[in-house]
Amino acid sequence: TGASRPLARAMSTQVQRLGVVGAGQMGLGIALVAAKVAKLPVILMDTKQEQIDKGLKFMEKLLEKDVAKNRISSEDAAAAIKRVTATSSLKDFSDIDMVIEAVSENEILKQSIFAELDKWTKPEAILATNTSSISITKIAAATQKADRVIGMHFMNPVPVMKLVEIIPGLQTSSATLDATKALATAMGKTCTTSQDVPGFVANRLLMPYINEAIMTLESGIATREDIDTTMKLGCNMPMGPLTLADFIGLDTCLAIMKVMYDGTGDSKFRPSVLLQKYVDAGWMGKKSGRGIYEY
Ligand code: CAA
Repeated sequence: TGASRPLARAMSTQVQRLGVVGAGQMGLGIALVAAKVAKLPVILMDTKQEQIDKGLKFMEKLLEKDVAKNRISSEDAAAAIKRVTATSSLKDFSDIDMVIEAVSENEILKQSIFAELDKWTKPEAILATNTSSISITKIAAATQKADRVIGMHFMNPVPVMKLVEIIPGLQTSSATLDATKALATAMGKTCTTSQDVPGFVANRLLMPYINEAIMTLESGIATREDIDTTMKLGCNMPMGPLTLADFIGLDTCLAIMKVMYDGTGDSKFRPSVLLQKYVDAGWMGKKSGRGIYEY
């Protein structure tokens, strides 16, 4: 039955306790799916208490909807939220088996978090990053256990999207790769594997499409609404590219384009001037109340 499947999956992962770094939209989704589907105890770390409080409420709301839609029982929902605990310090990660880092797309920040994780986690712990474009090989090099570092790229919104893109770095061991695939499967996701190149597969294809839509707006070819409607109704995309850009966050879109442009030198990855301007203005998309649209 549907209800017994997550349990069967959970038994296939060797991870007993999961740590998640960052209570933003990705970290919350990852923590929720790990607790609900893989039934794992999760420690969610964020330095901002307010972010954690908001996040736990958001998770509860999603679980309530699952109950209202008869997807899980209220007992299972209560058990899932109980599995999530919060902390503001990585020192509390001393007995976890695997960490998924999901902070903002900033190489220096990620490297410093991995250096810290290296200090506070046990030697055999696997350290995964949810980076959407930064080199796994480089992040791994910030630690003393590069063979245990891997990319685990979830899609937004994590509870809904079925894919996890797995990216082994140059130093990643095959045991780390297998354990990561097993965890993703226990979380109910389907895995694909990409080599460690800027943007991996998902963003190498998605971001130039979004960037081109912003350039189309910038050139005055069509209104924002008409660009989105063209792709939504004309190509059956679930969202138009400009709505999707706001949903992902314009700062994230720009950061990914820059990583691909700098990493390859290929002009096909050149970020749109308008995208840069919106980010400079603080118009980050849905999360900041204004992006290409107003919210
Ligand atoms: N968290 C959890 N669940 C969410 C959610 C969120 N943030 N947003 C929407 N949902 C759920 C809704 O609650 C709803 O669930 P129910 O079926 O239980 O009611 C379901 O998703 C469908 O939502 P809606 O009916 O409100 O709206 P929709 O049909 O337009 O679906 C969508 C919303 C799933 C987000 C859909 O528009 C979609 O698939 N959009 C494209 C998303 C996409 O391309 N994601 C990848 C982004 S790229 C990325 O993540 C990688 C990267 O590195 C940048």
